[in-house]
Amino acid sequence: MKSIESGGYSIHFNEQCYVELNSFLEHSNFSKIFILVDTNTHNYCLPEFMSNISYSSEFEIIEMEAGELHKNLDTCTQVWHALSELEADRKSLLINLGGGVVTDLGGFIASAFKRGISFINVPTSLLAMVDASVGGKTGVDLGSLKNQVGVINFSEMVLIDTSFLKTLSKSEMRSGMAEMLKHGLIKDANYWKRLSHLSELKISDLESLIHESVVIKNEVVKRDPNELGERKQLNFGHTIGHAIESYYLESETKTTLLHGEAIAAGMVMEAYLSTKTCGLSDRELFQIKKVFIDLYGPVEFNENDKSSIIELLKYDKKNSHGDIKYALLESIGKSNIDVIVDNDMIYKAFDYYAS
Ligand SMILES: NC(=O)c1ccc[n+]([C@@H]2O[C@H](COP(=O)([O-])OP(=O)(O)OC[C@H]3O[C@@H](n4cnc5c(N)ncnc54)[C@H](O)[C@@H]3O)[C@@H](O)[C@H]2O)c1
Ligand SMILES: [Zn+2]
Repeated sequence: MKSIESGGYSIHFNEQCYVELNSFLEHSNFSKIFILVDTNTHNYCLPEFMSNISYSSEFEIIEMEAGELHKNLDTCTQVWHALSELEADRKSLLINLGGGVVTDLGGFIASAFKRGISFINVPTSLLAMVDASVGGKTGVDLGSLKNQVGVINFSEMVLIDTSFLKTLSKSEMRSGMAEMLKHGLIKDANYWKRLSHLSELKISDLESLIHESVVIKNEVVKRDPNELGERKQLNFGHTIGHAIESYYLESETKTTLLHGEAIAAGMVMEAYLSTKTCGLSDRELFQIKKVFIDLYGPVEFNENDKSSIIELLKYDKKNSHGDIKYALLESIGKSNIDVIVDNDMIYKAFDYYAS
């Protein structure tokens, strides 16, 4: 699969990843190389990754706990201490080998350590391959509030080796699929159509679809790296989706929803808002709802859940001057940004989702 250029860095795929990485390491003269993994990627991905490295040097492995609950400043502090104790300096390199939690958190750790060291993202989950590892957004959650602390800073390269997906669970595969469907909804009706007809998530079928998703995201990011305009389109489903995800993260009685599961529900509700504000047709709304409910099943919300989730919307990063701003659809494949919707309408979106 063809490498993708992204204004200053490249995204490589499969065998090409290791050709590029080994050559980059040979030519870069890093003082030390660190690999950040979580407990799962340590087991499932690190051995395969190391077997592809021909550059002879010592690699220090730093492990964090797996999961969104650990994407926080406490973990950052632990990793910063580990880097310091292992004598990382400004010429060190951090390789983030993991899902979106590791790439988001590792990118932030590298961006702040000694005011910034180089890092490389090696995404191992579907979600991180098609979305989180690309585009320079790094950061962590603050309590249960999503991605409140972070910076935009780009990695040296992104290496997407789809063979890592062999050990990823079905539910995590589905979670990643939500971001791919989002890319179709906001930018490419044909891509949406092909994805929504996939009956099984087989790696061989997914390879070129993963590449296409990265192309879609990368084009948007290249035109608007700092999210001043067009890049906000990528937040479709995420205003309500992040509030749902945060609510589930902080709840002691609910099991946590995966990121993709939360934004799948968010996309159905925001598609409903799109029909009320941006002209999305009822026919397309119905189609969107069917695809997401078939794939993810419905999440049930009681009255208390709804009001608590709506209360959390005020923390969304796109808000300004007290207004909650949404990225919504005009039609499948075409989206609008900065749409203001009042909270009464969100209750109706919950009702539509449950209907
Ligand atoms: N920066 C961005 O632009 C961006 C975009 C989308 C999502 N995100 C963030 O990404 C995060 C979600 O990413 P995620 O879904 O990858 O979560 P994750 O990193 O928690 O990974 C999901 C689970 O799969 C495990 N795992 C990863 N790769 C594996 C493999 N190959 N085999 C077996 N297990 C494996 C992980 O250990 C974890 O338990 C969220 O925090 C979200 O906010 C960021
Ligand atoms: Zn997302």
